[in-house]
Amino acid sequence: MYRTISITAFLITLLILGLTCLFKPCRDCWKHPLRTLIHIFTLLLIEQKLSFAGVIRKLVYLLALLCFVVLAVTGFYPTLVLGEHISGWLLIIHATFAPILAICLAVLAVMWAGRCRFEYNDWPWFEHLVQKATLVKNIGNQINGNGSIWQKIFFWVIIFLALPLILSVVLSMFHLFGTYWQDVLIAVHRYCAVAFAIAVIVHIYVLVRAGIKQ
Ligand code: HEM
Repeated sequence: MYRTISITAFLITLLILGLTCLFKPCRDCWKHPLRTLIHIFTLLLIEQKLSFAGVIRKLVYLLALLCFVVLAVTGFYPTLVLGEHISGWLLIIHATFAPILAICLAVLAVMWAGRCRFEYNDWPWFEHLVQKATLVKNIGNQINGNGSIWQKIFFWVIIFLALPLILSVVLSMFHLFGTYWQDVLIAVHRYCAVAFAIAVIVHIYVLVRAGIKQ
């Protein structure tokens, strides 16, 4: 059942992202696909205009991305492709990259919290409501937003899902819980891994679209 649910969830996510590309394409995406691909690649590079904190943030993000890819491949390949449980070298690689991802996520949560805070002008209807209630005309203009509302939502979804994802498997390593609860904790890790992976894929998609627009 885990295999069917995971594969269906990933396919639905890719379908929705594909449809948004089709019906709400970025300005030049379809006109210049090669230029778009090169631009997506350049988004991985460290821009010279970045401050020192900006460079650290980007490097931590890229390291987190690398760990995520390794964890997703070592975690999902045995389960979704081979129909087996993770073991042997794949488990060793998985358990090696796991703490690095956990540390990167903690650093990113601190370094990106400010730019991912929600503001009035993230929800124009809410801003309108507040303006009506407070009769203050230019609430939105007082605060400058960073990043789109979707970037912010999926950033916090990732940080939120990281907790049960990591805690479940760490708790399963202690003999505090009987076999039944250890199985439950591993199942929590597996399903959180699917939700976490989907949130990361959508967050990358939103970031790339924002990057292409710039
Ligand atoms: C960051 C902290 C993480 C830690 C400490 C961790 C640790 C583990 C461990 C120890 C297992 C083996 C459980 C067992 O069967 O006994 C496991 C399984 C698994 N992990 Fe992770 N993992 C982490 C992150 C991730 C991430 C980010 C993903 C996916 C994006 C992921 C996907 C999976 C999957 C799919 C399995 C189940 C494989 C199976 O069915 O046997 N894990 N993880």
